[in-house]
Amino acid sequence: MNGDALSDDVLKYAFHQLLGNNGYVHLVNVPESFDHVAFLRHLGEFQPTPTGTLVGDVKPERGMDDVNHGQNRGALQPHTEGYEFHGRPPRYLALWCVKPAEGLGGETTMLDGNRVLAEFDDSELGHFRDTVYRWGSTEGLARKGVVPTAEHPVLEEQEGERIFRFSTSYLAIPEGDELATRLIERGNALYEEQHVAIRYQKRDMVVWDNWRMLHSRNAFEDPTRHLKRVQIAS
Ligand SMILES: [Fe+2]
Repeated sequence: MNGDALSDDVLKYAFHQLLGNNGYVHLVNVPESFDHVAFLRHLGEFQPTPTGTLVGDVKPERGMDDVNHGQNRGALQPHTEGYEFHGRPPRYLALWCVKPAEGLGGETTMLDGNRVLAEFDDSELGHFRDTVYRWGSTEGLARKGVVPTAEHPVLEEQEGERIFRFSTSYLAIPEGDELATRLIERGNALYEEQHVAIRYQKRDMVVWDNWRMLHSRNAFEDPTRHLKRVQIAS
């Protein structure tokens, strides 16, 4: 959105191309008049977040800094969204910035999951389609009384598209499942080496394909950092 404002059609076209090619889009230099919610509606139905709202707030909450949880200031570990729930995970996730974090940290980070899966051959990928794993949920959600667990394979085909689920901490790896151990180890190593880090300016928005991308966040200090968050069903 650099310089002159893009027309609506051009923006939507470019946005879809980038999302398909790269798995994510970072909108920058967003004008004050831009309506994030209206723009996102053309991607699909909004899906309620675990706390029940359609347009959520991501802000640090008091008393949550000691657990792995989105609503605090700690670093998160690489994951895809929604693995702990039954059914399909949200197709797209969007975050936009109401107030950037002052000082260091607070970037949203991402890695293309296809890079992780490229390290496995067809029969190994078959193992991830055929093996049903148990997925837990974060201590942060548990403290709020949300304790979902679900059973899914790592990989699922859905109308010709691949769904990839990943969680560093909450995929329960059965004794002796070396492939799952390697998936998490290689996923984390590649994440460390190759992730992109999105630093927000006010109104910036990042949208990504949650069936493909892993995401995480760097720790930050500023208690006034504020993002908005939407999940979009397929
Ligand atoms: Fe997340």
